[in-house]
Formats: sequence, structure tokens, C-alpha cells
Amino acid sequence: MLFSSEDETYHWAVEFGRTLKPGDMVALYGNLGAGKTVISRGVCKGLGFDGNVCSPTYTLLHEYPNDPPIFHYDLYRLEPGTDICEVGLEPDYLGKGITLIEWPERLEENTAGITHIIKIEILSETSREVSLEKVGAEQ
Ligand SMILES: Nc1ncnc2c1ncn2[C@@H]1O[C@H](COP(=O)(O)OP(=O)(O)OP(=O)(O)O)[C@@H](O)[C@H]1O
Ligand SMILES: [Mg+2]
Repeated sequence: MLFSSEDETYHWAVEFGRTLKPGDMVALYGNLGAGKTVISRGVCKGLGFDGNVCSPTYTLLHEYPNDPPIFHYDLYRLEPGTDICEVGLEPDYLGKGITLIEWPERLEENTAGITHIIKIEILSETSREVSLEKVGAEQ
């Protein structure tokens, strides 16, 4: 998909967010400034959360009070290859929430549980190529 403004990307993400189910985990790949947080903000909106959504760069995880709850990670500062269990990437062990992960590259192959992969490519200052892939067991 080609989005030529932040708004277009955001509005797509709102619709995408509405399709997510408790237990879903979304990995957001893309360089600095690609739009991972823009998409996270849209997904949160689509799930009914109206509060502030920003990259949790200094805290690793933001949890947003919502029904379903939303767990928003930014793993930028993690050592590559960190074990997913070591960082406690599964606060959602009951599968009741939606998990969003910026910089999933830091997990290398430890990506068990991820249900959706979004890749964002910067084409120009205002345009982005965005792909969505569903993975794992889906019924
Ligand atoms: N088509 C577009 N879609 C999304 N963002 C866009 C688009 N065009 C321009 N932008 C701009 O790109 C930036 C994306 O920032 P955002 O914080 O979402 O990136 P990020 O991938 O989360 O980066 P980081 O790795 O630093 O967390 C914003 O400043 C936004 O306005
Ligand atoms: Mg971000």
C-alpha cells in the first residue's frame, strides 16, 4: 500500500486496529521516523483508546488502559538477540490484550506469538510503502 501523508497512514491504521482481537501481537518494522508510532497511534484509536500514544523509548513499554488493554513496546535500546522472555515481553500472558512492538528486529528470531507483521518503507519525506502480513495459526 502506498500512503502519501501521515493522515493516510493513520486512517488506514485506525481501520486495521478495528480488526484486531485480544491476544494479537503486531510487529512494526521500519527505520527511524518511518511511521511505526503513527501506526501505533491509529491502531490504539481503532481499538477505542483516545489517550496519548508516543514511542515508549525510555521505558520499553507503555500500557494503555483500554478494553482490550494495549501493550506498546519500543525495543530500540535493547541489545540485539535479547531473549523475548528476559525482557518480559509477555505481560499479556492471558492473551487478553493487544501488543504492539516497535523495533522487533531486536528480538532477532525470538518472535513467537507475533500474529501480524507490518513493514514500512520511507519513499520520500511524505510517502510510505506499507505492507501487512498475517502470520502464525489463524482460525
Ligand atoms: N505517509 C506518512 N506516513 C507516516 N508518517 C509520515 C508520512 N509522511 C510523513 N510522515 C512523518 O514521519 C514521521 C513518523 O514518525 P514516527 O514517530 O511514527 O516514526 P517511528 O517509526 O515510530 O520512529 P522511531 O523509530 O523513532 O520510533 C512523523 O513525523 C510523520 O509526520
Ligand atoms: Mg516510534
